[in-house]
Amino acid sequence: MLSDLLQLGAFVFPCAFQPGRNETVEWFRQDALLYRFDRNSSKESFNPDQLAERASISPQQISDGNATLILRRSDPKDRGTYRCHVQTSGGRHKAKVILKVEAPIRGLFVEQSRLSGYEEIKCSVQDVFPPPRVTWATEPPTFEDLRPVTRMHAKPSGLYSVDSRLRKLKSQPDLIYICKMMSSYGASTWTTSLREREITGTEGRDMTIRCLAPTYLSNPTLYWTFSTNDKSTLILSYDSRSGHSFSLPSWVNHVELDAYKAAFGDGSLRLMDPKHSEHSGSYICEFSVGQSKHIERNQVTIDEPHGKRSLSEKPSYWWILGVVAAVLVLALAGLLAFVKLRRRVKKPRNHPEEETELNRVKDGEPAQ
Ligand SMILES: *[C@@H]1O[C@H](CO)[C@@H](O)[C@H](O)[C@H]1NC(C)=O
Ligand SMILES: *[C@@H]1O[C@H](CO)[C@@H](O)[C@H](O)[C@H]1NC(C)=O
Repeated sequence: MLSDLLQLGAFVFPCAFQPGRNETVEWFRQDALLYRFDRNSSKESFNPDQLAERASISPQQISDGNATLILRRSDPKDRGTYRCHVQTSGGRHKAKVILKVEAPIRGLFVEQSRLSGYEEIKCSVQDVFPPPRVTWATEPPTFEDLRPVTRMHAKPSGLYSVDSRLRKLKSQPDLIYICKMMSSYGASTWTTSLREREITGTEGRDMTIRCLAPTYLSNPTLYWTFSTNDKSTLILSYDSRSGHSFSLPSWVNHVELDAYKAAFGDGSLRLMDPKHSEHSGSYICEFSVGQSKHIERNQVTIDEPHGKRSLSEKPSYWWILGVVAAVLVLALAGLLAFVKLRRRVKKPRNHPEEETELNRVKDGEPAQ
């Protein structure tokens, strides 16, 4: 008896026996016949529903006592117990192979979204088998109820895609949310957490982009990546085991890591002499060790320096407003003067009574 764990691909089911004459070979999966070979009639038959064109056995090798079955492009539906029955002039032989299929997790994807007015963290994984168990935690731990909504979707191949959404707690804004996915065979656990920030800096003025490793990661490796719309560049890395750090040559004069603090999990990046056009973008800090990862996404905007702005943009704005106000005041004054002048001209001609009489007639007109 043999038990095996398969990562998707081709699989070999061994069945070796003492060679003899007049062999019949049969392969079963979960007691359903998959394959049969009969030497007397030289007849070979596959059960097409079960195997399609993915299985092969070599009749030449059968005469040498090898009825090994090869299954290509195996997927989760192929899992189960396989049996090989051989009958020869010399006797019987049986073999059994249990096939467990695993499409392992290769990484979790986390993102934050603000759909329907709630801040949510989404943790997802694609094409895995068996479906993993998902749990959430926070750092520091909270006593409030975390209520994630987890959806599992099985594709026709039998592989799963899984996503779990967690609404952030409004009462505790500074928590780190940790998503954990455990493969059901218990072989591996993947962990990812995320924090997002928006920061504004000023051109030419040094600033610090904070990033702290959560305590659940020990001796992680640190990567800082800078990304704009279409491009992502690794600008700095630090290995806490060796204490070795590396900065991309084109960034050496603009970024600095305090190696002493970094050894204690403070991976904050000093951004020096930042430029509006070159250094605005997303600074992603990633602490990782094994299958655990903590990510902090900092959306950094570098404003142009105040000096430039107050000389060019602001005064032009106030100047226009001032001219518009002056024109308005002049127009108003002119209007008032004109109205006064007209009254003075009108008054002596008409009696006040006549005027009211005239008004009454005018008011009544539409009704007639
Ligand atoms: C194959 O043929 C031989 C005689 O030629 C016979 O003894 C044997 O039983 C046959 N085997 C099967 C499985 O039919
Ligand atoms: C039996 O055949 C398979 C492939 O057809 C091969 O991989 C395997 O080594 C062979 N086993 C023996 C014992 O010869």
